[in-house]
Amino acid sequence: MQRRKEQIGVGCADITEQEIRYVNEVLKTKRLSYGPFTQKFESGFAKLHGCKRALMVNSGTSALRIAVAALKEIHGWKDGDEIICPAVTFVASSNVIIMNGLEPVFADVSPQTYNLDPAEIEKHITKRTRAIMVVHLFGQPAEMDPIMKIARKYKLKVIEDSCETMFVKYKGKPVGSFGDISCFSTYVAHFIVTGVGGLAHDKDLTPKKFQKVVESRFKFLRLGYSFRATEMESALGLAQLERKDDIVRRRKYNAKYFLKKLKKFEKYLQLPTWPKYSDHAFMMFPIVVKEGVPFKRNELIMHLELANIETRDMVPLINQPVYIKRYGNLEKNFPVSKWINHNGFYIGTHQMIEEKDLEYVVKAFEEFFAKKNIC
Ligand SMILES: Cc1ncc(COP(=O)(O)O)c(C=O)c1O
Repeated sequence: MQRRKEQIGVGCADITEQEIRYVNEVLKTKRLSYGPFTQKFESGFAKLHGCKRALMVNSGTSALRIAVAALKEIHGWKDGDEIICPAVTFVASSNVIIMNGLEPVFADVSPQTYNLDPAEIEKHITKRTRAIMVVHLFGQPAEMDPIMKIARKYKLKVIEDSCETMFVKYKGKPVGSFGDISCFSTYVAHFIVTGVGGLAHDKDLTPKKFQKVVESRFKFLRLGYSFRATEMESALGLAQLERKDDIVRRRKYNAKYFLKKLKKFEKYLQLPTWPKYSDHAFMMFPIVVKEGVPFKRNELIMHLELANIETRDMVPLINQPVYIKRYGNLEKNFPVSKWINHNGFYIGTHQMIEEKDLEYVVKAFEEFFAKKNIC
């Protein structure tokens, strides 16, 4: 198999004439800060996720940071209060809890969906638990019914970290419409890509509540943040929002192609699954190498990378040096997370991956298994 020159990456910048038109409009009108593009992008995005209003900021991390800060202030949480957080997620979900003076308390994830396992939550609830940080990883909604039931039972707030998941529903309700506040990212490799960017929204948002915390114009009631995005990011976002159905359709097509063609390796690889009542928008295509197979995950990763197919680990958190330093060896308490950390990786499914690229990726897998003589 000949190595291709152009990488098949995990993300893309899909810039069409519409993005160029909208950004040019911003430049011509000379209105760079909060204006009509941001207003349209925020309200269009919020509506699609069952919310009244969204707030565009400069990253998903910023959105999460102010979401936790707002809940802490509104509900009078004290430093050291706890938030349940999945043991597999991008570091930002947990970092923002610590940055707000609170404590992340980890819970293991499901071995099928890799999202927070509802059965693992209750044993971690203490008198100081205030909220659950639910993360919808890789484009797949978490199990919201049982999670919301636990939240109601213990009167906990719910923050949805939906940075990796947009435009999909769980039992007919869109991600982002379950929790008290939900956050999204429009950083490169996400569904909508604006370079940098994020959105936070609250389903009962009123000017008095959330906006008061983050937008008190020239009335500095508290120490605040500067997390603004510009009209240019919103112009990019709006153009992509207008063709989001096409973006999601193409990602699902690519993922279904991989599912079909890689099925023959299921003895060795765990491919994505999702329940009938839910959906998967495939921000990525996660794969976990099964136990006891005659090769190491990193051999397969190296084979793909050498073929110029980009891979990423499946957002390991608790084995990050900064977390080991803070909490010691957490992996021993979270067997599923440990398995994912050491055996999981993902490849891209984005809309710019074409038929010939899909064939190339599958060939690379076939070549690996042929070389190993196990197919
Ligand atoms: C689950 C999750 N949360 C939060 C973030 C942070 O978003 P950003 O990179 O826009 O700060 C990411 C980013 O990829 C993410 O995957």
